[in-house]
Amino acid sequence: MKNTGAGKFFVTTPIYYVNSLPHIGHAYTTIAADTLARFYRLMGHDVLFVTGTDEHGMKAEQAAKAEGMAPPNYVNKMAASWKKLWLGMGLSFDDFIRTTEERHKKVSQSVFEKLYKQGDIYKGMYEGWYCASDESFWLEADLVEGCCPNEWCKRPVERVKEENYFFKLSAYQDFLLEHLRQRPDFVMPKVRYNEVFSFVKSGLRDVCVSRRTFKWGIPIPFDPDQVIYVWFEALLNYITVCGHLSDDKKFKQFWPADVHLIAKDILRFHAVIWPAMLKAAGLPLPKMIFAHGWWEMKGEKISKSKGNVVGPAELVDEVAKTCGIDKALGVDVVRYYLFREIPFGADGNFSMDNLLQRYNADLANDLGNLLHRTLPMVEKYFGGVVPEPGAALGAETEVKVEVKEILSRIQSLDFSGYLSTVWQLVSSANKRIEVYAPWKLAKENDPKLATLVYSLIQDIAEVCIVLSPVIPEVSKRIWKELGMDGDPSAFGLNAIKKEVVPTGTKTRRTKPIFPRLDLKKETAPKIQTKGEHKVDLIDIADFKKLNIQIAEVLSAEKVTGADRLLKLKISLGSEERQVIAGIAQWYKPEDLVGKRIVVLANLKDAKIRGELSQGMLLAAQDETGALSILTLDKPVNTGAKVA
Ligand code: MSP
Repeated sequence: MKNTGAGKFFVTTPIYYVNSLPHIGHAYTTIAADTLARFYRLMGHDVLFVTGTDEHGMKAEQAAKAEGMAPPNYVNKMAASWKKLWLGMGLSFDDFIRTTEERHKKVSQSVFEKLYKQGDIYKGMYEGWYCASDESFWLEADLVEGCCPNEWCKRPVERVKEENYFFKLSAYQDFLLEHLRQRPDFVMPKVRYNEVFSFVKSGLRDVCVSRRTFKWGIPIPFDPDQVIYVWFEALLNYITVCGHLSDDKKFKQFWPADVHLIAKDILRFHAVIWPAMLKAAGLPLPKMIFAHGWWEMKGEKISKSKGNVVGPAELVDEVAKTCGIDKALGVDVVRYYLFREIPFGADGNFSMDNLLQRYNADLANDLGNLLHRTLPMVEKYFGGVVPEPGAALGAETEVKVEVKEILSRIQSLDFSGYLSTVWQLVSSANKRIEVYAPWKLAKENDPKLATLVYSLIQDIAEVCIVLSPVIPEVSKRIWKELGMDGDPSAFGLNAIKKEVVPTGTKTRRTKPIFPRLDLKKETAPKIQTKGEHKVDLIDIADFKKLNIQIAEVLSAEKVTGADRLLKLKISLGSEERQVIAGIAQWYKPEDLVGKRIVVLANLKDAKIRGELSQGMLLAAQDETGALSILTLDKPVNTGAKVA
């Protein structure tokens, strides 16, 4: 989009490892960036949206070896597949950076050399462990049962003893703390900010930034026997791609990035090491690092190593087939589900059932119905032409799209909040049809009929524009049916006025965009699912099946090797039990001892990380995923029932 003076917006995704193909976790971050990019374009900003591939390191080298290929050939093949897949999903990135490109080598070597010359990088002896899967260095004390301590990895590590180069991260501790204090939105959401703050406060050690025993990387210019540590150079992709050392004008325009989108697994690299590197290099820091949660299956992060991946292309095919729609619409259904279902920032369980329910309730029913009730009215009562409005309607079913509210939701990356705001408009338009009953107005020759139909058309058009960043293809098709030419995204958010579709426009109805599914008839979804998010109504008999009781925490301790879990011994008055609860991020064991808590006591026993869990602690989860356990406001005996 042309610069309209609205400003610039630079959004990045992580550059992904090429040892595997994308799954929906990767698609989630990339679609989030795509949605933001489309939104800022809609607002008239000059947008730079980039993604790419991280191609050096042991992981890529080992994967190439496993395929019997030379690393350059292997990474070329894989990078091409990643790019093709993203393009196939209609993602609108402006550049696709590969770390094997010359422009990236130049920036990496130059920054490394600068930091070395000024003493921020120095030679030292590294003795410790390396996890090729996460491309991370670990000290003996970090390991859990001799393996990589990352909860989602836990793979064997290898011993490394090399004379390497180190980056003086410790020298930037005060700077980082001060920056975090000054910029509470530097790391989002809040739970991640707190995590980073306490990590930095607990003390930073210098980090190893080169490898000697290993060759697939960018050579250090003044010591070509070594390559630059893959994470050190990967982070630099963000300045390479916006023109550092190659296009000054572009670099000045776009750097610093407005948002680095990542998931919580790579938070420290982005929110601790990267800002320190930039400070050392004399460059401004990104404005925000947003670390969203994980898509999980059966409570585990979706990842290649867990063998539980759902490929985006396969998912789109499955959705298209099940719903009887084409693939381009299938992409939008997936986009809609991913961002409506889970607040951005929290973890979510991927569920094909929920996806299909969302499809039916929100897209086929709410949105689809609105369109396919309105267009026949234009045809039946006004010869297929958008009528001139007549007598005013009452304000009782009037909800306007509050552009300001939508903007603030988007600016804080609250995608689900933004979608539910838009859905208020969809619901109010549907309600207006019921309240004014057009068939009655027609019988009575009431001039309000034209006003009603006109207002519905304008509302659908507004919905189309504001939804175009999330479901671009759907928006385009609805736009066409409204009789409009071009693309709703070209309309511009600021151009939304009372009349989007001019009176006299000839509508172009086709068959319903979203055929409704008979979900009862649907056979078990082909994609493995877990976790229900829709709330169905239950009767009191169902509730009575739950045995919820008050318990006292007798002792609490961490579960070895599981960052999130605490093992609680609890008393229900007449018996003692053990409960495993995923609250370690929010509660220290010592804070819980002696507390009265609320537990679901008749849940089947389960083994969690090898530990027996005999019940479930009840807690409330906010939109960031943070948990708060339920407690009592006056003393109640342990064992008391909650009714
Ligand atoms: N190459 C590094 C990143 C370097 S950036 C300078 C890397 N690559 S990765 O292929 O492992 O991608 C990690 C990212 O993929 C996560 O931060 C997240 O954006 C996305 N996701 C991978 N699995 C995911 C889920 N299960 N759920 C949500 N996002 C996930 O780390």
